[in-house]
Amino acid sequence: MPNVTHLECSLCAARFPADRIHNLCSCGGTLLVRYDLAAIKSIWSRDTLRAGRPDLWRYLPVLPVQRPESIVSLGEGMTPLIRAHHLGTAIGTQQLWVKDEGLNPTASFKARGMTTAISMARELGIRKIAIPSAGNAASAAAAYAAAARIEIHIFMPTDVPQANYVECKTLGAIVTLVDGLISDCARIVAERKDQEGWFDMSTLKEPYRVEGKKTMGYEVAEQFNWELPDAIFYPTGGGVGMIGMWKAFDELEQLGWISSKRPKMIAVQAAGCQPIVRAFEQHASRAEFWQNASTVAAGLRVPKPLGDGLILDILRASAGTAIAVSDEEILDAGPELASLEGIFAAPEGAACVTAARKLLASQFLKPSDRIVLYNTGSGLKYLSAYSAG
Ligand SMILES: Cc1ncc(COP(=O)(O)O)c(C=O)c1O
Ligand SMILES: [Zn+2]
Repeated sequence: MPNVTHLECSLCAARFPADRIHNLCSCGGTLLVRYDLAAIKSIWSRDTLRAGRPDLWRYLPVLPVQRPESIVSLGEGMTPLIRAHHLGTAIGTQQLWVKDEGLNPTASFKARGMTTAISMARELGIRKIAIPSAGNAASAAAAYAAAARIEIHIFMPTDVPQANYVECKTLGAIVTLVDGLISDCARIVAERKDQEGWFDMSTLKEPYRVEGKKTMGYEVAEQFNWELPDAIFYPTGGGVGMIGMWKAFDELEQLGWISSKRPKMIAVQAAGCQPIVRAFEQHASRAEFWQNASTVAAGLRVPKPLGDGLILDILRASAGTAIAVSDEEILDAGPELASLEGIFAAPEGAACVTAARKLLASQFLKPSDRIVLYNTGSGLKYLSAYSAG
């Protein structure tokens, strides 16, 4: 039974067949994968997961791959959800967990998006990929492309963490450093892709990375025994993880596995690049390009997320919020999380600690709220940022 019914534009709801190669809708909207959830529900129960694979492919019925032999897996997902008592005490709650995405292949949650996107590239016969990246997405793309034997061209800013650059080169990617931001890298890919025959794997410009990232939502539901937490702090650059998790919760409710209760979704950004925070505060429906974006949290340096409207909708629908954290606070929070809990987090993840502390202090959240911080990557990729402190 095919589980996927079609692809649907997130802006104009136009439908597209799922078995072809697609980027954006002609209206500019991101395409989302739609499943026959009623049929899936009739043959798949959450109890069967106990015997499932110990990686994100345990959720195969709600993933886009049609032929299991297309799957390119390096053991991604099913990351630990760690109870953080000591950090909780420090920030004013006993109900705190860290979802540690630093344990994924290539040490970030980007592996989730790339296992599905590269598996689909293999299924659809794509031979050459190009991707602009702030760092971790490139590392993950390079690893999965290597495993799939697909040619990959990576464009990253010159000041990307050195670890990501070395990792991509070592994994066999063709890497170009660009004197600019991820938006400049994206422009180069867009300009050259037709001539070079590249498939553009930019964030939200293809339908499948979000499908892998949504498994962060499936997992947190499963790990909390199908009752979602009260608040999720997510370090938001392109916002794909947040968009994915929200989609997961919707699918889970349609499967009858969770109730209609949703966590407050909280977008954490860096003070030096906070387009979503500003748009949220101004009650705007889209974000404006953030000029002179700068932060040690390289993954948050996205001046104009393509999915800005979707992110803002989620923050509002979930009664969540958006909050910015300075680099100084991030570089204090990283060692605090590390020394109290044994988790050496990426600056993006560390930012969530400060954000949670602020929202508990302001009483936006109550001490009885169950709070999950997403540490999206490992601190080991950011040695120069941390050693400066
Ligand atoms: C460690 C880390 N956290 C968070 C992000 C932002 O991810 P998203 O695009 O899902 O907002 C990135 C993106 O590069 C990242 O590398
Ligand atoms: Zn459209």
